[in-house]
Amino acid sequence: ELESLKDLYADYFEIGAAVEPNRLTGRVSELLNKHFNSIVAENSMKPGSISPREDAYNITNANIIAQHAVDQDMTLRFHTLLWHSQGSDWMLQDANGNWLDATPENKALVETRLKNYITRVVTQYKGIATYYDVVNEVIDEGRPDGMRDSYWYRITGTDFIKWAFEAAHAADPDAKLYINDYNTHSPRKRDFLFDLATSLRDEGVPIHGVGHQTHINISGPSIQQISESIQKFAEAGFDNQITELDVSIYTTSGTSYDPIPEEILLQQGYRFKELFKELVRLDEMGKHADPSTPAYNPEGWISNVTLWGIADDGTWLHNRGGTRQDAPLPFDKQYQAKYAYWGMVEAV
Ligand code: XIL
Repeated sequence: ELESLKDLYADYFEIGAAVEPNRLTGRVSELLNKHFNSIVAENSMKPGSISPREDAYNITNANIIAQHAVDQDMTLRFHTLLWHSQGSDWMLQDANGNWLDATPENKALVETRLKNYITRVVTQYKGIATYYDVVNEVIDEGRPDGMRDSYWYRITGTDFIKWAFEAAHAADPDAKLYINDYNTHSPRKRDFLFDLATSLRDEGVPIHGVGHQTHINISGPSIQQISESIQKFAEAGFDNQITELDVSIYTTSGTSYDPIPEEILLQQGYRFKELFKELVRLDEMGKHADPSTPAYNPEGWISNVTLWGIADDGTWLHNRGGTRQDAPLPFDKQYQAKYAYWGMVEAV
């Protein structure tokens, strides 16, 4: 009988998994319910899933996931209220599906649409969803101002970010609100994100933490870079969550393994171990920080670590970067524990 991951990490952070309704029954759901105490919808709660058209509001799949969280006493991370991909493009378009020009009238229209949508969704899941990825992937470190060149940005500037946080907070003042992004370990991206988060907070915008997606691979980025980013946000008083962790077995697009060499899986196991050891260490730093500083947090620096899946039969990384199977999660396709699972066990 395997030890439960959520029990092993109970003193540190919640252990979450991205799911869809088809992962909530059968053998994989036994793994989910045993090892995880938090869930997030891999796709079902994205604006493009809930509201693909102006008159559409589809929450059947979202509700199946939310109900599972309630029934199994798991926290629910809501992903996401706004993203440039898989979005409600109608909010940014005219009735003919053309993207709106950046006029003051259109900006006001987009503001109303966004606020109405967020108010409706957050009211719907009030008392059920604990955390929200309010905006996802708004940073682009390749641009001079660090802001992604999305239609949200073109039509509203950076105001859409503030509107999203304010509407979410107004609908549920207890919800914990996050800005979520990938490659947050990159110093340039981290610093753009940090400047945005701190200036929002200085303006009085209700932003509580940073979601670090953490789609990494067996050799990079370094644990130290990941750690330095979390530390920077934590010392400024932001909560941190690892929101989409997976560890690809591939380090370049050309490679493909079939079968996967044992040494690769072993390397992955060590990677999970080193990462989780560092996450535990960071979490503890918040508890032992000087209470007169913003770094001090009796709950620790990291409140939730969510994996982007449960077992290797269900990962978005299959066939990304080539025709190949990936294996980025702690359980294999037969739902057996991998070295990655044992790395998580040994880290704590
Ligand atoms: C991915 C899902 O896993 C896929 O099923 C879907 O086809 C595309 O989106 N960053 C995010 C997630 O914030 O929403 C993405 O999820 C993965 C990258």
